[in-house]
Amino acid sequence: MPTAKDTSKRLKRITAVGAVALAAFSLGPSVASAMPTDGPGGQGEPGATVVGGTKAQQGEFPFMVRLSMGCGGSLLTQDIVLTAAHCVDGSGPDTSITATGGVVDLEDPAAKTARSTEVVQAPGYDGNGKDWALVKLAEPIDQPTLALTEDASYNKGDFTIAGWGADREGGRQQRYLLKAQVPFVDDATCKTAYSNLVEDEELCAGKMDTGGVDTCQGDSGGPMFRKDDADKWVQVGIVSWGDGCARPGKPGVYTEVSTFASDIRAAADKLGG
Ligand code: ARG
Repeated sequence: MPTAKDTSKRLKRITAVGAVALAAFSLGPSVASAMPTDGPGGQGEPGATVVGGTKAQQGEFPFMVRLSMGCGGSLLTQDIVLTAAHCVDGSGPDTSITATGGVVDLEDPAAKTARSTEVVQAPGYDGNGKDWALVKLAEPIDQPTLALTEDASYNKGDFTIAGWGADREGGRQQRYLLKAQVPFVDDATCKTAYSNLVEDEELCAGKMDTGGVDTCQGDSGGPMFRKDDADKWVQVGIVSWGDGCARPGKPGVYTEVSTFASDIRAAADKLGG
């Protein structure tokens, strides 16, 4: 019998080709696709959105990017998007992805779009942990970028999440960017929900007791962030996976940015960001 991990890996492979929405069953960072969408660029595409959120204001999170495969991302530099490894298909030249930025409304004529030229998927990525990737763009999206957290000191408190993914489990992709706040969940508590948690590489957030607020299918790859001591946004997580969305006792799991910050920066330097 396959273990839960084996199964989630297999599901990922299936969903990666754009077959079915498996959100509710995924116990690993699977790309759920073919979600209905009411926004452009979402049809039949993998992704995750925010449950229990409200609309973000234009310009509130200028570093937020929507990727055409149905994922979120953040501007690490103006021409490099940080997203999830499970949102991309390996490393190398890749002109298949379109990034949309500068807007909360994906149908806003002011949206800036740029094609990808190259993708870097985290070295050693195998579906457990290491869920980060970079997408290099052919031209810059002229918006403020989001800094990576320098160390683990901001892995606590309340975090902001944002995305164009589903607004409930099995829900539609969104036209307007949604945002919400979720509290940090420590590894020991998160382990009670997910025995396969990779503690050094993943970080959990959500309302353990009530649920109701979470990222969801189509939010994957997008940032989880908070203010630093200088009142500047810093990225602490990348939307990765969860059991369904916003269920009590089932927090969202995010790539632990502090663990990978130096690897991510080195990979970006190599891309010429
Ligand atoms: N794997 C999902 C995606 O590809 C992200 C799911 C996040 N789930 C959660 N409950 N926080 O879009």
